[in-house]
Amino acid sequence: EKNGYDHFMLKEIYEQPSAILDTFRGRLLSNEGIIKMSGVEDNLQKFLNAKRIIIVACGTSWHAGLVAEYLFEDLARIPVEVEYASEFRYRNPVISSEDVVIAISQSGETADTLAAIKLAKSFGAFVFGVCNVVGSSIARETDAGAYTHAGPEIGVASTKAFTTQITVLTLMALRLANAKGTMSTSEYKKFLFDLESIPNRVEEVLKSDSIVTEISEKYKGVSNCLYLGRNYNFPVALEGALKLKEISYIHAEGYPAAEMKHGPIALIDENMPVVVIATKKGHYDKIVSNIQEIKSRNGRIIAIVTKGDTTIKEMADYVVEVPETSESLTPLITTIPLQLLSYHIAVMRGCNVDQPRNLAKSVTVE
Ligand code: F6R
Repeated sequence: EKNGYDHFMLKEIYEQPSAILDTFRGRLLSNEGIIKMSGVEDNLQKFLNAKRIIIVACGTSWHAGLVAEYLFEDLARIPVEVEYASEFRYRNPVISSEDVVIAISQSGETADTLAAIKLAKSFGAFVFGVCNVVGSSIARETDAGAYTHAGPEIGVASTKAFTTQITVLTLMALRLANAKGTMSTSEYKKFLFDLESIPNRVEEVLKSDSIVTEISEKYKGVSNCLYLGRNYNFPVALEGALKLKEISYIHAEGYPAAEMKHGPIALIDENMPVVVIATKKGHYDKIVSNIQEIKSRNGRIIAIVTKGDTTIKEMADYVVEVPETSESLTPLITTIPLQLLSYHIAVMRGCNVDQPRNLAKSVTVE
């Protein structure tokens, strides 16, 4: 059932082009300029009247929530707060019936997320679920929702569940942007076509596997690793770091690139690989100067760059090229080489990638 792959995780990484396609099948009608999601359509006024959206989730799903914060604010101009479900539920949070809560959970069984939903409902908030497992507790507890349709994810480290969550959240942000008129029709249509081309671009970026394997060979012995990104790719940096630590047991941290100089820069020396997501559109000049700062302290740079980039190529120890797309859609692309990096390093270190120590696929206790 691993389909010839050595591990479920690798199979699931490679399934992403088709998983993303399945996620928008029947929902994304690019020629007509329509996004059809019944859970959103049936509750459109609630979303449009929302004072703010509160996103609750844990782990990788929380990272998808952070990407959604950029999407909803940037495209649909709706204020968003992203909360760890565990903190939210115990914080005596301010919630009103004018809030819309989006709960994101692959398994649909995460105890803290489920409790956060119940709390939000008790204050009269409308709660929308983004789940992968059909009929799961969270899918049943929420007022409405959209499934990710990623298919079963067996590897404990979440891969295709993450990219399909982002796909659903992108569809939602675009639908709301269109309904609110925060985006011109031509811009909106361009987005739909760009989104539709993502599976092909993911397919293309999967071809970076050989260079990523080479990078993995080089750095498999390190004890620490830093991940940096800005804007839409800041959550991707967090996700890259989480993936590496959970399956390879290397200590890794993700940071917004500009935060480096407020602390983590002290860690940089010739033994510290720094993975920088530095695609052309996302505040490129700023990230180039962050790379210079790392380089002048002898840090090792692995950069994820837009195809054809030459500036960073000269500065970095390794570059992984990714195809160009709208900045808002880059997380769907830049995540892929980071998944592969953690996978290969973990395999090279002899780790059990599909079932890392101390971790469970669904966390049904708090
Ligand atoms: C990381 C991972 C976990 C989950 C988290 C939430 O790879 O899988 O961090 O993302 O436990 O799980 P769900 O999405 O099922 O609520």
